[in-house]
Amino acid sequence: VFDSGVGGLTVLHELLVSLPSEDYVYLGDTANFPYGDKTDAELQQFSVRIADHLLELGVKLIVVACNSAAAAALETLEQHLKPTGVDVIGVIRPAAQTAVVSTSNGRIGLLATPATVNNGAYARALLDADPHVHLESVAAADLATIINEGATIDERIVQSVRAYCAPLRAAAVDTVVLGCTHYPLVAPLLQRSLGRGVKLITSGVGVTRSVERALAAKDLLNPQAGEGSYRFQTTADVESFTEVGVRFLQMPFGEVEHVELGRPTSNMVRT
Ligand code: DGL
Repeated sequence: VFDSGVGGLTVLHELLVSLPSEDYVYLGDTANFPYGDKTDAELQQFSVRIADHLLELGVKLIVVACNSAAAAALETLEQHLKPTGVDVIGVIRPAAQTAVVSTSNGRIGLLATPATVNNGAYARALLDADPHVHLESVAAADLATIINEGATIDERIVQSVRAYCAPLRAAAVDTVVLGCTHYPLVAPLLQRSLGRGVKLITSGVGVTRSVERALAAKDLLNPQAGEGSYRFQTTADVESFTEVGVRFLQMPFGEVEHVELGRPTSNMVRT
């Protein structure tokens, strides 16, 4: 399971609940955080590099627990991993499918990073799931950073969340996709800003179903009962990753490993 930081722990949590006997390795690419302001080309390079690293560890399936990376790189990863037979599951399709089932008035909001909104992956996934829904997208430039740093919620953060939610309220959406894996960590704040009548959609549960089906199809589900192992890795500072991560996931991380994946070397052109 990988993400740009601690946000993907919200997806790992769902996996641990649904498939507790599997063995997990979670990589937070904090050295390249935030992914939300990167180009598709950069995110594809980061993602392929991480996938190669995870393959070396012997993983049997990869979950892209980051919307920005999934939007930009899922197809690239599918192609890249094809010869290995290792499946890759992203977070966008499951969230889009959950959202169209959840909405009553057909008006869906999306709160995501600029990379995810600009890529248009949610618009495409929602359109695939139901061509008649209306989508209102808001790019939240700094929300993931605030969460990733583990900042204490203060009045400034509340005001900024209210400002991000204002266009969604104005658009009368009844369902909002939290299109960044960091956002479920501030779900109470978002729910208060959006109001009781709005359903918040996360991808976690849908992702676990896809993971379970993909593993079952290849007869790869771990037949052992009991809890599997877990292992955490970060590409940046171990201490801050552990401190914020343990607080959010509410479980001991054990020995968190620092890994160097290097930075992409080829030309990265900003679009
Ligand atoms: N967790 C990432 C996502 O789901 C975003 C955070 C970032 O900007 O790195 O898009």
